[in-house]
Amino acid sequence: MENMLRKYWQGKRILITGASSGLGWALAEALAPFGVHLGLMSRREQKLQELAETLRDTGSRFWIRACDVRQREAVIRAVQDFAAEASGLDVVWANSGVGYESSMRHWEWDEIEAMLDTNLKGAIYTIKAALDVMVPQRSGTVVGICSAASMRGLPLHGIYSVTKIGLAYFMESMAVELPSIQFTTIHPGYVDTPINAGNPNRFWLLQPPEAAQKMIRAVAKKKHVYTYPWQMMLLYRLVHAVPAWIYVPVMRKMGRLALRGAGKKKKDQ
Ligand SMILES: NC(=O)c1ccc[n+]([C@@H]2O[C@H](COP(=O)([O-])OP(=O)(O)OC[C@H]3O[C@@H](n4cnc5c(N)ncnc54)[C@H](OP(=O)(O)O)[C@@H]3O)[C@@H](O)[C@H]2O)c1
Repeated sequence: MENMLRKYWQGKRILITGASSGLGWALAEALAPFGVHLGLMSRREQKLQELAETLRDTGSRFWIRACDVRQREAVIRAVQDFAAEASGLDVVWANSGVGYESSMRHWEWDEIEAMLDTNLKGAIYTIKAALDVMVPQRSGTVVGICSAASMRGLPLHGIYSVTKIGLAYFMESMAVELPSIQFTTIHPGYVDTPINAGNPNRFWLLQPPEAAQKMIRAVAKKKHVYTYPWQMMLLYRLVHAVPAWIYVPVMRKMGRLALRGAGKKKKDQ
């Protein structure tokens, strides 16, 4: 397995959005030992510098850019600058994301728009800019970090789920259109990161380093879609297959329970 990972990742030029925290940070830690050229993006430059400093002894190269993925021109410029610096782009991880509750009870337009602009539009800006480099190269890998919350319309999380299923469908469309590019859509279950800190209902919870190892393996295996952990993958498939006439009334009951327990505003996953 180690050989397979080394063969895939060694020397790759990799751009990660949302590298300042959680999954993005753990991905950088997991990839740096392979001797890669890592582009680290997010709004908090100080955190990116800390991360690069921590990984300095791995021998990997680091490039840092403070960038808000909601700013289209800034994203395009950042991707182009990294590709110019690294003389190409092998892998992009569209990972930046935010999550808030979006029930009718807690409807905050600023949060709704932040989710749509970051998770969906920001990811599309990132991927389109990366494809503008990869397609002429006739090679490259696009990884979209979606979510197990895209399994179905979920109470309290309608907008978050929309951003993630929207991204998954965009990834699949591109995969059909562009056979020379690898597309891997990842649906994480619960991982212990700041996005869901404070949520007491995180089941099958993983720590970021374990999640990162699973993801870099799935990409190296060139999976089209990868949902983890395996229990969440089974649940995702099952829930996805249930007809609406069963799903809606059952979820109404569960949604009422969830609403009763929903004191917090910041969303999970
Ligand atoms: N943790 C889970 O259980 C879980 C489950 C399913 C899916 N996911 C997805 O995994 C991805 C990573 O989340 P995480 O769990 O690692 O959460 P996190 O620790 O809160 O990290 C989110 C990252 O996104 C970046 N980000 C947020 N808004 C941004 C913006 N406007 N421009 C650029 N970067 C921005 C943040 O960096 P700055 O604040 O520095 O900009 C941060 O690095 C997200 O897409 C999330 O939806 C997480």
